[in-house]
Amino acid sequence: MMRYLLFICLVFTGLGWQAQVIGNEQPTEQQLERLVAQLTLEEKALLTSGRDAWSTQPIERLGIPYIWVADGPHGLRRAPSTDTWGYGDQAPATCFPTASALSASWDKALLHEVGQALGQEAQALGVNVLLGPGVNIKRSPLGGRNFEYFSEDPLLAGELAAAYIQGVQSQGVGTSLKHFVANNQETQRMYMNSAVDDRTLNEIYLTPFEIAVRKAQPWTVMACYNRVQGVYGSQSAKLLTQKLKQEWGFEGIVISDWDAVIDRVEGIRAGMHLEMPGKAGHLTNQRVIDAVKSGELDESQLDRLVTEILRVVLRADATAREEEDQKLEEHHALARRVASEAIVLLKNDNDVLPLLRDRLKDIAVIGEFAVNPRYQGNGSSEVKPPRVDRFMDVIEAEYGDGVNITYAQGYELSDDRDFSLIDEARKVAAAADVALVFAGLPQQYESEGIDRTHIDLPPSHNRLIEAIAGVQKNLVIILTNGSAVAMPWVDRVPAIVESWLGGQAGAGAVADVLFGAVNPSGKLAETFPMRLQDTPAYLNFPGEQGETIYGERIFVGYRYFEAREIAPLFPFGHGLSYTRFDYSDIQVSAKDITDSDGLTVTLTITNTGPVAGKEVVQLYVSDPVSRLQRPVKELKGFSKVTLEPGEGEEVRFTLGARDFSYYDPGQSRWIAESGAFEIGIGASSADIKLRQTIQLASTQQLNYQFDEYTFLRVLWENEQMRPLLIERIPGWIGSMTAEGMPLGEAVIQDFLLDQPLIKLPFFTAGEISPEQVADLVERCNEMTYRP
Ligand code: BGC
Repeated sequence: MMRYLLFICLVFTGLGWQAQVIGNEQPTEQQLERLVAQLTLEEKALLTSGRDAWSTQPIERLGIPYIWVADGPHGLRRAPSTDTWGYGDQAPATCFPTASALSASWDKALLHEVGQALGQEAQALGVNVLLGPGVNIKRSPLGGRNFEYFSEDPLLAGELAAAYIQGVQSQGVGTSLKHFVANNQETQRMYMNSAVDDRTLNEIYLTPFEIAVRKAQPWTVMACYNRVQGVYGSQSAKLLTQKLKQEWGFEGIVISDWDAVIDRVEGIRAGMHLEMPGKAGHLTNQRVIDAVKSGELDESQLDRLVTEILRVVLRADATAREEEDQKLEEHHALARRVASEAIVLLKNDNDVLPLLRDRLKDIAVIGEFAVNPRYQGNGSSEVKPPRVDRFMDVIEAEYGDGVNITYAQGYELSDDRDFSLIDEARKVAAAADVALVFAGLPQQYESEGIDRTHIDLPPSHNRLIEAIAGVQKNLVIILTNGSAVAMPWVDRVPAIVESWLGGQAGAGAVADVLFGAVNPSGKLAETFPMRLQDTPAYLNFPGEQGETIYGERIFVGYRYFEAREIAPLFPFGHGLSYTRFDYSDIQVSAKDITDSDGLTVTLTITNTGPVAGKEVVQLYVSDPVSRLQRPVKELKGFSKVTLEPGEGEEVRFTLGARDFSYYDPGQSRWIAESGAFEIGIGASSADIKLRQTIQLASTQQLNYQFDEYTFLRVLWENEQMRPLLIERIPGWIGSMTAEGMPLGEAVIQDFLLDQPLIKLPFFTAGEISPEQVADLVERCNEMTYRP
């Protein structure tokens, strides 16, 4: 990209004072203001839409450069030029494991490293903003883009995204946190309304974005295609201005998803800065100009957005580095390490793994994936890697000494009902000491733009596994998939290795784990269900008639399985190791805290097994008694620890008010209620090793928010309100009360208590008027309480 000299100053030209960019520092706010003042209305309209497929609009007369944005997220898909699409002809770039693999590492430092590498590659390829990461919650395993998203848990997704963003942006390259928000399916993604209630939206779907924005300030956020609570994500002032800017302090700009914008003027009004790509903008620029001229759109709003766009554009240009080395070799090695950290050892009965070469001489490798790997997902995130490792090549080259390796294809990736290769594979497996079976989802099973309709492996893969299980007891299944799959054969195989879509060097990572060069340490960032029918959104996915009802509410992923007591195939947070870890000595900084105190939790973790290893220690919080329904427990902290055999380490977590809170939709705020909370420390959501209970006293001072539809019971059972009721309707309460008993102890029958206040005039036979009910409500709302 052409680099402009930066730094703005005022220059007198024949046309008057003009802002010009003449140095390489970032402009001050005043300089930005002056620059915006130089722009014509037409230029402002131009700046709020792209120039072409991948770049923003330059204004050459004022020295305003363009920036180049490119997909993302697990590698660069940089087209040959900003005005070509770059599918197939994109520049070679390192293909890292996709997000569902990255998240299984549970390793923030690693995500930061991946981010740095991506930032370096972006610099080398002239890209200023990388379009990722995606933090949409995996609401259903059917989500076609789950491979591109981190987790079903908002904290895990948000923390990992923050680390990734910090990594990329440390290189002077921006990110685009996407797709904001409640974009949890592909079916009809350009129109579907995510009918999600406010509590769920805040607790589950907004939280990962909030964490990433507050911690890492991505340069851009990408607005989603879909509607949220009836309003397009690119036109929602509630989301783009209220949440992002006002509540979370987002300093960057919002860009639309590609072709997401329906009404550009509405978008600008809501706080959507940049419509992408450019071709759509060319059609709608005039609409923006007309809207300003007619007074429909306030020009000061346009000025605000343009100022913010220029801040990002000029910053990107100032931090762009010429002639950066793409470091493809170095990044290949990193991609292998990352893939190995992401591998989850799901099952390892009889310690089949690691493969000990003195015990297992004849190794049968079965499955086309071993020679034709699937290493990334389908769609806009497709990277063109400079090279892709194949498992057969890696083991022959690196682990082949002293062993015999045989191979059988086992299935046709292009035809999932071709069973003709199974017999041969069974013979090869039977003749070996161990069979390594590569199975998983072919490309056509998982893609952007299409949701899955089931979670099954291809029939040929399932049948192959069953056939080999009948002849070989040393059987290892290596799975290739971007999201959860069912495993009807789970009890018939001793070992299962989840390798995800492991990027260009994933095959080497699998070999490293199988042969014990790497001790597996990944943990599931999503629940693997036994059956699709067991999953939270089963009855509400993908919705119908333009509407998806988020009927499972906050009970997404393990929150649902635990509340329903449904045993999953493998629980959230699960993952085995070749060593053992002992959890001991949990301590809390105080047993009694207030919500403003914060709480420190420490414990000791010791490697008691034979080899070095890493463990992901997970902290969950439970609120057993609460005014609102709550999940059994929720992840509130995690830490990955590396330990030599015999080594122990103290792990420390710090919790704050938010970690104990729910989002109260009535109050539109987070509330940490007084009472007991349980802290659980575990190796997975289903394996809690240590527990502590603490008491929290809330210091929040809240106002009641009643109206005439508040139920009588709420007032009657409240110490502050009951005297008010007695004062207002003593006759009616007296009629409920046995003679001689004080009014305050009246026993009012349930069916009367469960009436809204608006009914009081009727069933008290006029003792209280509708106006007095309104006054009562007002009096109540003047009172405050601690939750
Ligand atoms: C996808 C985005 C992507 C954009 C540009 C859209 O269809 O939803 O994730 O960044 O295209 O390729």
